[in-house]
Amino acid sequence: MRIIFLGPPGAGKGTQSQNICRDYGIRQISTGEILRKHTTEGTELGKEAANFMKRGELVPDNLMIDIIISELKKPEFAKGFLLDGFPRTPVQAEALDGIMAKYGIKLTCVLVLEVPHEEIVKRISLRRTDRKTGKTYHLLFNPPPPGEALELYQREDDHEDTVKHRLVVYESRTKPLIKYYSSMGLAHRINGVGTLEEVYGKITKILDEQIHK
Ligand code: AP5
Repeated sequence: MRIIFLGPPGAGKGTQSQNICRDYGIRQISTGEILRKHTTEGTELGKEAANFMKRGELVPDNLMIDIIISELKKPEFAKGFLLDGFPRTPVQAEALDGIMAKYGIKLTCVLVLEVPHEEIVKRISLRRTDRKTGKTYHLLFNPPPPGEALELYQREDDHEDTVKHRLVVYESRTKPLIKYYSSMGLAHRINGVGTLEEVYGKITKILDEQIHK
């Protein structure tokens, strides 16, 4: 399966990606996580990306496309992948089309997780991320398992004003991709409000239909 996960920041893409990859045997490519790893390691790419990320802006297309080209070359993605956080602009979507055409592969579907902005602000304000694994939790809705030695931190771009700006950026730069993939018959809209299990149930229904198509 080759899946793109679209949706506003904090909609639950990362959380549900973990379930999908576990159950469908594919690997996640999270561009946000790749960039955060670079910033933690202090690489040149990380330093450049951090200037955009901390303001809630998108990292330039050319840098993101280079990352995806090198990720998709890795053998572990030959069986399939779930793209979480890419593409985020029409330029990135067209570049992905070109890369996939070069490899002779096609997208299975595009999942679009829809959550109202007020709910997103609630979700992100109590989100905590584990520094070692990149896994995300919510202090109320998805608490970290007790007894595990986690290094939880709050992301620098998770402060309320930055989140509001990220939502504006999503509306103007990423949301147009829903139309792009709908016109190809690939987009599936999912109401992302509900418990983690309820939302995952809606996702598996779509993915199972794709498998049996
Ligand atoms: P990225 O890391 O991709 O962030 P994002 O898309 O803004 O998404 P988030 O990680 O914030 O949210 P999510 O949907 O994964 O939600 P989660 O599952 O954690 O990107 C960060 C930055 O990197 C960008 O702003 C940009 O600067 C840069 N970047 C990355 N890719 C780029 C690209 N392609 N081009 C340019 N720039 C790029 O859930 C959120 C919280 O809600 C968690 O606490 C979770 O436990 C909780 N939760 C989840 N589901 C539920 C539920 N059903 N009910 C209650 N709580 C829930």
